[in-house]
Amino acid sequence: MGTCRLCTCKINGKFAPACTEKVAEGLSVEVNSEELIDTRKALVEMMFAEGNHICPACEKSGHCDLQHMGYELGVSSTRFQHLFKDRIIDFNPSRMVLEHNRCIKCMRCVVDVKTSDGKKVFNYQNRGNETFVGVDYEQEERLTEEQVVNAMKICPTGAIIVRGVSMSEPFGDRKFDMESVQENYHKKKSKRTHSEEMSKKIIATVSLAGCFGCHMSLLDVDEEILDLAELVSFDKSPLTDFKEFSSRCHIGLIEGGVCNSENIETLRKFREHCDILVALGECSIWGGLPTMRNSILLSECLEEAYFNSATSEPGANVVPYHEDLPKILDRVYACNEIVKIDYYIPGCPPDANHIWKAVKNILWGNEYSILYSEFKYD
Ligand code: SF4
Ligand code: SF4
Ligand code: FES
Repeated sequence: MGTCRLCTCKINGKFAPACTEKVAEGLSVEVNSEELIDTRKALVEMMFAEGNHICPACEKSGHCDLQHMGYELGVSSTRFQHLFKDRIIDFNPSRMVLEHNRCIKCMRCVVDVKTSDGKKVFNYQNRGNETFVGVDYEQEERLTEEQVVNAMKICPTGAIIVRGVSMSEPFGDRKFDMESVQENYHKKKSKRTHSEEMSKKIIATVSLAGCFGCHMSLLDVDEEILDLAELVSFDKSPLTDFKEFSSRCHIGLIEGGVCNSENIETLRKFREHCDILVALGECSIWGGLPTMRNSILLSECLEEAYFNSATSEPGANVVPYHEDLPKILDRVYACNEIVKIDYYIPGCPPDANHIWKAVKNILWGNEYSILYSEFKYD
């Protein structure tokens, strides 16, 4: 359809989308030059800058073509200014939800989603930058269940979601969580090259048994985030949604203590892949609020949570168990009880400027003495 331009090639010396070009004898096609790869990367970055995409909270994460292209091209930030468009989520269709923040206007739904008697359900409205995809609610009601689910599947992003129908695979096992990108990155980038050593520092972050407050604080540096983007890039992190490490990292920031078997595994992987490990915030330093359960027997905690809480089914008395579920540990552990921790940044959550000052000082080896006034406990 030629709408996204991601298949841009050089055809007979000119930039053109491949999908609208008819194959002909004698055509000269350049596919993967550095210039073309950067052009595609810029196009994907524009899509991220134009929409409001929060992959970790998106139903399509792991099955999303846009996210996959981002991974494939190594996009971890965008060179363009985010537009922060004020877009709606349309809950009016009877079975679908149209999340306009994620629509890249690829036109697939407009062309392909039709009722059994050939009536269109989606249409383009407005023009230029103000174009959006509208839904004909009457026709949407006439779609069969199968057609509705198919609409969700053909949408390359998480813009079309069907109520009560979620992606069958759990996050982490989805198509693009497992495929090409991360494997290829692993092969290509198990070691940092010299130029990578000289350029940006690579940061990985994780939230174990924490409340995500330290991660929120990490982003709370206002416009200084732009300067930071010049100095550091993020690898595996909830901020990038990279599920696996794609290269060795200079520093790993750990939020939260260790309360289950998965936390132990994750923490050990961080130790393995990061030159320096930093415990960020009280929960990672000594366990924090979750350690309130340390003085109570685990069986009593589980009974309280699953037998007696307001949301448990009375009399059911079932503690969830499945071999895929992480095993709860006898108590909550501090990170340094599991692996060696190199530095500690105290606070609950630590102040954003405090975190970044400390991280910059650790990474570039400057001396830094923390002022009492810089400790923050909300
Ligand atoms: S649509 Fe894709 S890129 Fe956008 S938030 Fe969802 S997963 Fe991320
Ligand atoms: S809703 Fe999905 S399929 Fe339709 S134009 Fe937007 S991104 Fe494309
Ligand atoms: S323009 Fe060719 S695939 Fe989008």
